[in-house]
Amino acid sequence: MFMAEISFIGAEAVVTPLEFLGFSAMEKTRVRKRYRNGSLDLRLRKARTRAEARILLAAKNVVAVPSVLFVGEDRLILEKVDGTLLSKLPVDELAKNLPKSAKNLALLHSAGIVHGDYTVSNQILQPSGVLAVIDFGLSKISNAPEERALDVLTMVKSLPSGGELSSNRNSAQQCTSFSPSGDRWQQPASYASTEAFNRCQQASSYRPAGRFNRRQQPPRFSPAGDRRPQLSRYAPTGASEKPTGKIQSLPQRQAPKFIAAYAGFSKNKKIKAQVNAILSRARYATQQGA
Ligand SMILES: Nc1ncnc2c1ncn2[C@@H]1O[C@H](COP(=O)(O)OP(=O)(O)O)[C@@H](O)[C@H]1O
Ligand SMILES: [Mg+2]
Repeated sequence: MFMAEISFIGAEAVVTPLEFLGFSAMEKTRVRKRYRNGSLDLRLRKARTRAEARILLAAKNVVAVPSVLFVGEDRLILEKVDGTLLSKLPVDELAKNLPKSAKNLALLHSAGIVHGDYTVSNQILQPSGVLAVIDFGLSKISNAPEERALDVLTMVKSLPSGGELSSNRNSAQQCTSFSPSGDRWQQPASYASTEAFNRCQQASSYRPAGRFNRRQQPPRFSPAGDRRPQLSRYAPTGASEKPTGKIQSLPQRQAPKFIAAYAGFSKNKKIKAQVNAILSRARYATQQGA
């Protein structure tokens, strides 16, 4: 087949299915960002491609990740992982799989790997029930508790808002979720119910107008291309679930469950305590309106 069937256009990369050496594969090409200086852009794309390949190889020892089949300058060819993104699962299915997700994250962290974009859109539940982790484009080797806590927060922040979303809110807003890679308008959160799923499907052609248009959207974090979010950007977990009129991305009902499971699987007591301290600080800061 000459033409790829479907491409996934993410914040950073275009991912296209193809066949490679007889394997079902995905080619992930990092695309140029117009808002970045040309040579910086190329340098970043090359570095991130190499880093992603290296970390995928390291992560393979601890969790299910796609095999690396080819490494180019700005592209990788990866084994295709069959299954369903966590973001596409109904919320009860997602809830069932959260402990696996938490365990995977704790295992990655124990191996010194920080994912950098640990969200429901970067985990695939395989038909075997094994949960695979993908998209190591923002990953790094780090033991810093802050980095680990950010992974936990990023995951928690990407969880769906729960079943009782306000009916007066724009249904497309209910479909959005947060990701450090910035593609919040692209990837729907998991669906709280079949009804929510249908609403999101109907609204899937929705694109926010004006300054929120993806193409016109400025870099969300830093013009230097460092898109790591700051702790203060996270909303509190466990706060009121009443609709506010704003995009309500938290609290996610499952957040405490995920955090508890993560803590349970986290072996290093010191790191665990530090991560917990950061999580409660972040919660406190956001409750204060930071
Ligand atoms: N190895 C893979 N197997 C199956 N699907 C994949 C694979 N890699 C990427 N995808 C699909 O492509 C999408 C975007 O890929 P990802 O690596 O997350 O790039 P981005 O950095 O743009 O988010 C994913 O959400 C997933 O649906
Ligand atoms: Mg992704």
